[in-house]
Amino acid sequence: MNFMRNTWYAAVWAQDLPADRLVPVTIIGEAVVLFRDAAGKATALLDRCPHRLVPLHLGRLCDGGARLQCGYHGLEFDGAGRCVRNPHSDRVPTAAKVRAFPVVERHSLIWVWMGDAAPCEAQIPDYSAFDECNNARVGRRETIELDVNYQLMTDNLLDLSHVSFLHDGILGHADMVRGNIEVQQEDNTLYVRRATPNVAPPGMFDLMFRRDGQPVDVWADMRWNAPASMLNYAGVCPPGGERSAGVHILGAHILTPVSEFRTRYHVAAVRYDDTVTRSEEEASEVMQKLGDLRRHAFKDQDEPMVMAQQDAMIRAGGLDAVEPLLLNIDVGPARARRLLETLRQQADEVREPVEA
Ligand code: FES
Ligand SMILES: [Fe+2]
Repeated sequence: MNFMRNTWYAAVWAQDLPADRLVPVTIIGEAVVLFRDAAGKATALLDRCPHRLVPLHLGRLCDGGARLQCGYHGLEFDGAGRCVRNPHSDRVPTAAKVRAFPVVERHSLIWVWMGDAAPCEAQIPDYSAFDECNNARVGRRETIELDVNYQLMTDNLLDLSHVSFLHDGILGHADMVRGNIEVQQEDNTLYVRRATPNVAPPGMFDLMFRRDGQPVDVWADMRWNAPASMLNYAGVCPPGGERSAGVHILGAHILTPVSEFRTRYHVAAVRYDDTVTRSEEEASEVMQKLGDLRRHAFKDQDEPMVMAQQDAMIRAGGLDAVEPLLLNIDVGPARARRLLETLRQQADEVREPVEA
């Protein structure tokens, strides 16, 4: 599979990379080991010792993270991947080095640049709503391991018309089928917006808003950045009213391909429901229920459906073996797939200019 290489991938939530731990992650088929150096800076090395090729995450950290010692014969590497100690000799062979990947810790996530080109920090998408300073509003930051291809999950997230069927009663219902879908590209960012005016509130938003079942305008605006980092701005407000008079959620949906058929899915949500007055007890009950509903919609509804889709595709000969029928609701996913391929070619297949 042609994964984009010269781009940032969210490896883990920062909370899941404590000091003194070696954390193995596989990103686009490459084994990477993450740790914090002596200054607490997140570091990523290829998870493979150049001697005998064993995973370095089976070793240990020395001097508070200053060096990673291989667990097999004790070569020690610094955060730049240089071998700084060979316990068997005073000489360190020049080939004793490990690839180091550029890392940035931002918006409570650890981002790793997987390509050989110079990394561009400005390309990290804005998830500032998830910064630690906003913790009072942010629900659990979780990572879900999925046995599905990341593009099938992207299709799922960029086509939210499925809420009326797969998530009937929770995130959608029959009256929301005919949403107005709008796709817009700004530079390399894609927006897929879906609005359903004047309908009964879907269960999750009724719980968050007025709890009276009265009609509302519903929207879900999904932002997409290559390769598969999404942010969903979704909410309800009184019909014809300002969105600021309603309630909304910002949902992080960040997909990191592990391999062709496996994906790490980083999720978290930020609630904005200050327009509703509640006791502290009610607010924490709502927060708990929202988390449970989101988890149920994902684990019991989306995940089994997309896994079954992938199984059917594999039985038919592979993910690209059968040309799928395209409906009007597929405009967002189709556009994202085309844009990703264009950006991948631009980023990874840079050729020498042809001499005139
Ligand atoms: S395998 Fe790492 S030092 Fe031998
Ligand atoms: Fe879904």
